Amino acid sequence: MESRRISDANYITARYMDSILLRERLIDSVVADTSVTLFDETWSMPVMTPAFSHLPKREGHAMTGLEEYSAAAAQLGVLNFVGMMENDLFARIVATGAKTVRIVKPYADHGKVVDQMQFAEEAGAFGIGMDIDHIFGEQGLDVVIGEQMAVKTSAMIRKYVESTRLPFFVKGVLSVEDAVKCADLGVSAIIVSHHHGRLPYAVPPMMVLPEIKEALRGRDVRIIVDCGIGSGADVYKALALGADAAAVGRSMLPSLEKDGTEGVKAFLGGVQNELRFVMSCTGFAHVSEIDDSCLCLPQRAFFAL
Ligand SMILES: Cc1cc2nc3c(=O)[nH]c(=O)nc-3n(C[C@H](O)[C@H](O)[C@H](O)COP(=O)(O)O)c2cc1C
Repeated sequence: MESRRISDANYITARYMDSILLRERLIDSVVADTSVTLFDETWSMPVMTPAFSHLPKREGHAMTGLEEYSAAAAQLGVLNFVGMMENDLFARIVATGAKTVRIVKPYADHGKVVDQMQFAEEAGAFGIGMDIDHIFGEQGLDVVIGEQMAVKTSAMIRKYVESTRLPFFVKGVLSVEDAVKCADLGVSAIIVSHHHGRLPYAVPPMMVLPEIKEALRGRDVRIIVDCGIGSGADVYKALALGADAAAVGRSMLPSLEKDGTEGVKAFLGGVQNELRFVMSCTGFAHVSEIDDSCLCLPQRAFFAL
């Protein structure tokens, strides 16, 4: 038999998510409510936009893709995320009215980190954070668009957390060890993610979620998951496995590229409708009730790629 090696974490993640199946519970069920309260605010659904960067303007349009999806987040009442960018663009993101978490890159330039975080807070960000999974590249420390990245120590993350009155998010947690460190450092939320497959053979975020949820039991840390989320059923599975919310990713791009803000609104509306449908079919009236009682999980040992 021909042997094959599959290192692509996106592929592994998709296969794992598709192998999680659902049981129906229809008797005495109701039409579910998808709203959720997180970070002392009520949102229309436990779905968030991805921390994206570098999305240019569509031809003939005044806003960049980042502003277009942020406007959609504002109009839908979902928490918005953005990634690497300079301060002037972040100010334009805030001007869309979106409640936005700014994920600052792990720049080696400490001054740049502090400047971007301070600017975000003064400009009216909802939260700030850092994608700690973009430190290393193939030759050592990564350089992203000419910017040198650096390792972030526990002491540095604690300083970032203490330097702001806003919730602090750490993006790119994929182990119990990092999750517990974040809790110990006073982080408000972690994003369980492999950053669309940066690490070969990365564990699917949904596979590691239950362990992380268990390790953080009783700690005041919210859990968000991303990577491969593109439907209401995906969001449902993430919540059932222990997440408080899930962020879509590249699944949003075709709608954004075709129809801008309206496209993203339609896409996220479809995710919300499918989430409501799956919740209703499995007997959950409210997001806060969702647990793993309707999941049929693959046996880990026999999870075949
Ligand atoms: C065009 C693009 C730009 C991105 N920029 C950033 C970024 O600046 N910061 C960050 O934390 N993640 C960034 N990401 C990663 C996403 O936030 C997210 O973790 C990832 O896309 C999830 O995987 P998925 O697309 O398979 O759902 C970017 C992803 C894409 C596709």
